[in-house]
Amino acid sequence: MKNSILIVLATFLLVSFTLPNKADWAKTGHRATGEIAQKYLTKKADRKIKELLNGHSLAFVSNYGDEIKSDKAFWKYSAWHYVNFPFDSTYEASPKSENGDIIQAINKCVSVLKNPESSREDQVFYLKMLIHFVGDLHQPLHVGLSEDKGGNMFQVQWFKKGTNLHHVWDEDMIEFYNMSYTELATNTDELSPEELRKIQSGTIIDWMYESRELCKDIYAHTKVGEKLGYRYMYDYMDTVRMQLQKGGIRLAVLLNEIYK
Ligand code: ADE
Ligand code: ZN
Ligand code: ZN
Repeated sequence: MKNSILIVLATFLLVSFTLPNKADWAKTGHRATGEIAQKYLTKKADRKIKELLNGHSLAFVSNYGDEIKSDKAFWKYSAWHYVNFPFDSTYEASPKSENGDIIQAINKCVSVLKNPESSREDQVFYLKMLIHFVGDLHQPLHVGLSEDKGGNMFQVQWFKKGTNLHHVWDEDMIEFYNMSYTELATNTDELSPEELRKIQSGTIIDWMYESRELCKDIYAHTKVGEKLGYRYMYDYMDTVRMQLQKGGIRLAVLLNEIYK
């Protein structure tokens, strides 16, 4: 009897500790965004960032924001990865989350990094967080609705497996596409100078509203419990790839401005 209780307890502990953390863009997605950004950095920004990251790349540190979720000391940053407000309202008109949101987070990172008084420790921390959050900002479900926690409570099927809409956009599509982060970064769409300039323009708020429009489109085209698979990939994988590309280009815009 005692033995079977111990076995049940041990199994429970094993399962709970081996379940994946709830994350954001798949690790591959964040790395692709970092790798794309790397190509657009000015020499000066590249040098400064290499120095702060001890020679590591943007891709290498891009998942730091998720990794620290395992440490209670960092739980206060949990709400910094997203923003939720109703479809019929605006960010500006909605009550701000006391725990912060992705817009406040990115602004905080930029302001710490622009401040010459910031300690080296803070510079390294907020640089790694900025690299992560600009990726998250381009995941449409990170500009979501609070009632279903950005699609985390929106159950769907992915190739006959139960999952949720948020997870489909964070991970399932990118994983099914089956490209490494370097392959994603080298196979981005060719952009005309005009297209590039358009992506590089605008504000953090404008980029957030672009994700919001995509989020609305996703909700208009996805039903609770729907079976998603090949057709969903066909409809939306180009959007995922473009969001990773835009995230990278815009991360470089912010970093080049910080380290100019
Ligand atoms: N938790 C609550 N809302 C969320 C969102 N939009 N994205 C990620 N996690 C969330
Ligand atoms: Zn996510
Ligand atoms: Zn995140």
